[in-house]
Amino acid sequence: MRYNLWMRILAIETSCDETAVCLLEAEGAFERDFRFRILGNALHSQAALHTEYGGVFPNLAKREHAKNLVPLLEEALRQAGELSHTESPTDPGIFLPLKQLLEREEELFKQLLAHALRYRTPVVDAIAVTTGPGLEPALWVGINFAKALSHLWSVPIVAVNHMEGHVVMPMMEHSDILENVRMSGKIRAFNFPLLTLLISGGHTELVLSKTFAEYQLIGETRDDAAGEAFDKVARLMDLPYPGGPEISRLAAEARAILGVPFDSKDSPWKLTPPMLRSGDYDFSFSGLKTEVRKLVEKHSPLSDDDKRRLALSVEETIAKVLIEKTLRAADEYGAMTLIVGGGVSANTRIRELLAGRVHEDATVEQLLTTSPQLATDNAVMIGLAGYFHALKGQYSAPQDIAAKGNLKLETAL
Ligand code: KG4
Ligand code: ZN
Repeated sequence: MRYNLWMRILAIETSCDETAVCLLEAEGAFERDFRFRILGNALHSQAALHTEYGGVFPNLAKREHAKNLVPLLEEALRQAGELSHTESPTDPGIFLPLKQLLEREEELFKQLLAHALRYRTPVVDAIAVTTGPGLEPALWVGINFAKALSHLWSVPIVAVNHMEGHVVMPMMEHSDILENVRMSGKIRAFNFPLLTLLISGGHTELVLSKTFAEYQLIGETRDDAAGEAFDKVARLMDLPYPGGPEISRLAAEARAILGVPFDSKDSPWKLTPPMLRSGDYDFSFSGLKTEVRKLVEKHSPLSDDDKRRLALSVEETIAKVLIEKTLRAADEYGAMTLIVGGGVSANTRIRELLAGRVHEDATVEQLLTTSPQLATDNAVMIGLAGYFHALKGQYSAPQDIAAKGNLKLETAL
């Protein structure tokens, strides 16, 4: 049953190599009594396609998003019981504006037009779309799709910062339901100051918040992001993209099968934790990549056990820097809550180590993480962050919405 106060958000995410569409409904002030339900959630990962490039190839990502958006929209609407055939004839006047909005996406235009001619307008109050940061060609596809839907359904658009999605997702507790459909959840109780460690394919940042939607960047990577480091190291080791889960799997095997003590001083696979004592909260991972390249060259060809040992060393070294610096920052700023978000936060070892340290820490009361499935890119987090802004009336005129590859997290009170 749908109550009057529930707001329905259709969320679209295309910033990298995941195409995702989610229909959720939410109610309440975000800060206090916020609740949500996922009505439909469809996601397509392009990871397998990008494997041969060892990373995400922007134009391929863009084409794939354009191909998959309408099927994913229909899947999400079907799950929500919102995909029904239209009985009234569609106004032919929709043709031209849609064609103009999707002039660079011919296939997407054709698919959306066919959709509009077949199906009735679903019950949706706002469209939330990722406008950055990310790969601009990929972001544009989602944005143009959002503009076309906004025109078609006469609903406003909320522009969402992808990183805010990664911050907001771990704030939620939710039921554990397959594929996240029919999942319901609410905001957890926690105290500020809040320190968020954002670790993804493109970002490594420490962000301090004294209240909701207030973000102060206190540290970031000077070169490669943590996820990028995992991906690049994996490539050096001939492992498929994305590298994070692969390195993590091999590291787990090293612990289980080989029982390797990771930090034995004479291990040939030992790596230097970069910038551990730099005196600030910045990170750097490109040196680690160079160190790994040298090790790979020296020991080439690597046996399976060599790969396990090296993967263990990589995972432990990255985890160590991230955790040490985060806890140091938490103490300096008196953070009562710690969030870890972004794709790399799916890493079991990082979660385990962080949880152990937080347990011993004097100031931090709580560590918030989300399920591994929702730690990597998805549209649920975009819908949640979008609701927050929609509630405050922070809509954008379609002509003002543009892709911003380097969009920063900004305070929006
Ligand atoms: O947030 P995300 O899905 O996309 C971006 O916004 O970039 O993060 C993707 C990154 C990739 O670099 C991937 O290798 C990494 O997250 N990742 C992991 C794990 N799962 C995904 N890194 C380490 N361990 C994992 N289990
Ligand atoms: Zn992400």
